[in-house]
Amino acid sequence: MATVQERIDLMNAKKEHILQAGGPKRVAKQHAKGKMTARERIEKLFDEGTFVELDQFVKHRCTNFGQEKKDLPAEGVITGYGTVDGRLVYAYAQDFTVEGGSLGEMHAKKIWKVQEMSLKMGAPCVGINDSGGARIQEAVDALSGYGGIFQRNTDASGVVPQISVIMGPCAGGAVYSPALTDFIYMVKNTSQMFITGPAVIKSVTAEEVTAEQLGGAMTHNTTSGVAHFAAENEDDCIEQIRYLLSFLPSNNMDDAPERPTNDDPSRMDEELNTVIPDNANMPYDMKDVIRSLVDDGEFYEVHQHYATNIITCFAHFDGRSVGIIANQPAVMAGCLDINASDKSARFIRFCDAFNIPIVNLVDVPGFLPGTDQEYGGIIRHGAKMLYAYCEATVPKITLITRKAYGGSYLAMCSRELGADQVMAWPTAEIAVMGPAGAANIIFRKDPDVAAKTAEYVAEFATPYKAAERGYIDMVIEPKESRPRIITALNMLASKREARPAKKHGNVPL
Ligand code: HXC
Repeated sequence: MATVQERIDLMNAKKEHILQAGGPKRVAKQHAKGKMTARERIEKLFDEGTFVELDQFVKHRCTNFGQEKKDLPAEGVITGYGTVDGRLVYAYAQDFTVEGGSLGEMHAKKIWKVQEMSLKMGAPCVGINDSGGARIQEAVDALSGYGGIFQRNTDASGVVPQISVIMGPCAGGAVYSPALTDFIYMVKNTSQMFITGPAVIKSVTAEEVTAEQLGGAMTHNTTSGVAHFAAENEDDCIEQIRYLLSFLPSNNMDDAPERPTNDDPSRMDEELNTVIPDNANMPYDMKDVIRSLVDDGEFYEVHQHYATNIITCFAHFDGRSVGIIANQPAVMAGCLDINASDKSARFIRFCDAFNIPIVNLVDVPGFLPGTDQEYGGIIRHGAKMLYAYCEATVPKITLITRKAYGGSYLAMCSRELGADQVMAWPTAEIAVMGPAGAANIIFRKDPDVAAKTAEYVAEFATPYKAAERGYIDMVIEPKESRPRIITALNMLASKREARPAKKHGNVPL
């Protein structure tokens, strides 16, 4: 019979073995690729010393292909909870040094447990993916593992923030759980996501492509829009995740934490009075406007590299977390297209689900015309944006800086789409279409097209027609925008708005 001390020693020896993960060789290989181990990533994510690991001793029960002889420490995934900036967060990190981080039945069940706890306790869940996908030896048990993760991702959607981190090659099922979550981070050069890898593609279509070109961080941050953030390296990535969490509430019943600031809420900025060029066709950088408006000039872009004709970002106004959606006149004149519609619709829905007020900065000449857009379904995609704004019940503030024409005026959260406060600068132009387009249609038979167009500009390319009808609440000097927005946010803090009860809406997809 072992003594108590011997039993304690045995426990410590078992734990020590588990901490070795896949062994020094595989750990060295991981480091040589510029990657951390799963435990190193977890340690870095959480406040020092706060991480509590669960299920260290969980073991697979697969006997196919001699698997029963395999020792897979911690089942290839580290799971547990801790704090980030003092707030409870759940996480799992797949361990590539153990069977390539592949997912089998018990590996999946460890993940299910933290997903369920994160939902029950109302705290965010961060999933760090570094996995060869379904563990081939476990066959359909592995697929069942993924299915259960998808269900839990969906159950938690809109209840707790879910963040996915891609820190290695993620293929097959490994990419769909991230795609069901709110945000995806990727690391340049060391992470990839694809449904089928380069070898399969070559055998099926003879197309040759590298893994990085096919599914690397910049591919998914610029071309596909699958990923929301690109990090330079793993340290940078984890820092960014901690930063993102600082803008978010822990769950949909909570408010985001306040961030104290010394930036005066009544600060005016004379430079805003000159940001709009006298020539209405000249671009300017909307990011300069955002920087001027928000606390300490600080904002965090979501989808920074994708659909850059629209900006989506988190920032603070007098300490309060907000989501900003802003047209970018410096890219494609700020036109709305398919990708911009998808990008903003998803961001609006995230903010609405998590009680984050929305501020819209509008300078939009219209939806992008052309067969590419029409054949690609701009009607269906643009409708997502309309739907998302109409559905959102969080405080919504719209500031029109310059152009707001036609459908895009409505799509950028006009009064009818539920804006609670609409402000316009004196440079605002709110009408069915721009002067050139209007002249082409209604004045084309007029002998004095130029005079008529000038009349249109003077009469309609202004905020005053809209102000006369009360579609906008106020015309303000650009420099007063920050205090005006903060006053409106304070006024709207107690906003409650109900929508008809339903099982769920049918958002255009
Ligand atoms: C079991 C796996 C594995 C897997 C990797 N390993 N993937 N074991 N099942 N899916 C093991 C390897 O045998 C190896 O074991 C160790 O992990 C490291 O793998 P390497 O190949 O040596 O590493 P590397 O060269 O870096 O290549 C990584 C990789 C490659 C690109 C991920 O391993 C790979 O292509 N794996 C298969 C990917 C895949 O097709 N997965 C199935 C997807 S289908 P040893 O013992 O040598 O260290 C899927 C269906 C789910 O996921 C659908 C749900 C909807």
